[in-house]
Amino acid sequence: MSKLSSLPDLIQDEIQKASGWLGFERFMAMALYAPGLGYYSGARSPFGPAGDFVTAPAISPWYGHCVARQIIQVLDAIGSDTVLEFGAGDGRLASQILRHAQAVKRPIHYQILELSAGLIKQQQDRIKLEMPALEPQVSWLERLPAAGFRGVMLAHEVLDAMPVRLFVHRCVQQREVQWYERGLSLKAQAQANPATGPDERTCGAQVGHGLPPWQFADRLCDPSWSVRLEALKSSCQQQWQEDWPDGMLIEWHEQAQAWIRSLAGLLEQGLLLLVDYGFPAHEYYLPQREQGTLMTHREHRAGTDVLAGPGQQDLSVHVDFTAIARVALQSGMSLSGYCSQARFLMNTGLLDIAAQWAQTQGHWGSRQAVAALAGVQKLLSEAEMGELFKFMALGRGLENLDLIGFRQGDRSGRLGLEPC
Ligand SMILES: C[S@@+](CC[C@H](N)C(=O)[O-])C[C@H]1O[C@@H](n2cnc3c(N)ncnc32)[C@H](O)[C@@H]1O
Repeated sequence: MSKLSSLPDLIQDEIQKASGWLGFERFMAMALYAPGLGYYSGARSPFGPAGDFVTAPAISPWYGHCVARQIIQVLDAIGSDTVLEFGAGDGRLASQILRHAQAVKRPIHYQILELSAGLIKQQQDRIKLEMPALEPQVSWLERLPAAGFRGVMLAHEVLDAMPVRLFVHRCVQQREVQWYERGLSLKAQAQANPATGPDERTCGAQVGHGLPPWQFADRLCDPSWSVRLEALKSSCQQQWQEDWPDGMLIEWHEQAQAWIRSLAGLLEQGLLLLVDYGFPAHEYYLPQREQGTLMTHREHRAGTDVLAGPGQQDLSVHVDFTAIARVALQSGMSLSGYCSQARFLMNTGLLDIAAQWAQTQGHWGSRQAVAALAGVQKLLSEAEMGELFKFMALGRGLENLDLIGFRQGDRSGRLGLEPC
């Protein structure tokens, strides 16, 4: 067992072991998931008012009912009762889905695959408290299921928490471009490591509070990466003609793509439903978004000082939905739908649920009703979550099924999947 007891010590050690340069992806993985020390593996819960952020199920209890309607349509069509949720957070979405299934008398077997022991406990406590009768229908997996899965897989804000590689576009001369990968070096080594190139000294960490002993360091990419990055650039430039500026930061979601590939290999029939904030590639990698989308969350404030306080703050990126869909298609899945959160929730009847609830209340004037309406407004509004968040349905063996969540406002055609 390692004698190093703090996450900063572990990261420093890892930088040294990696000959002075550690890729950002590895840093992000440690900051979020280092056993017992990472942001998601520590004792503190990041969710809710006392944590760092809230996700949609905490904004309205009806959110999970809409998701459940989509899930049940697929389960009924394929004759399965299995739902597998990845990274179930504080368990709220699971509880809402189970509640809806119970209300419509549709038995489901709900599985959760969660990386954090602390969150498993939180999920178990919630199910015990809110849905005690359904406890036997919920189980926690320790690893991915065996191939041959039939049912619905659900990943709600999971892709955004997967570590990314960072690349920097450098315009050397008029039309010549060089690609660098961004990583970390220890500050004392910054002047002494010529292998990492000149940018190491100029892209110093925005360290802020805490002053970590590392800083950003950019290293020339090997040619195979340059080819992939140039291909991404030219596919995006088919939508806009402008070149990427000098210093443009590109987030490459290698782990997320590998994960989709492995889930595709396990899914025999059913749906993988992905929900997250993000865009198609040509919107994601806009020249104007030159600093990428990587951000921190702490105590309900977003920030950009990603190197500070590893394990103490959330790190997340937006999702490149074009890349996700492309990998899924290459892995034999079909793209069964892609739309904004607002569309999905309207398609699955959020407003009907709200109206029915209002009837039981008698009027919309109570404090409770105003709060309920505010939640619906936040989920649907373009200025809040309605447009930035997307639902993507990746299916196998669902060819003739018209998914209720995507009946109107499907934007699959905007993903720019052709030609690629
Ligand atoms: C932003 S939180 C979202 C939690 C919850 N789904 C929600 O929306 O409130 C991201 C979650 O994804 C989980 N996660 C990341 N990678 C995962 C993986 N490969 N398998 C399962 N869960 C994963 C993290 O542990 C974390 O709980």
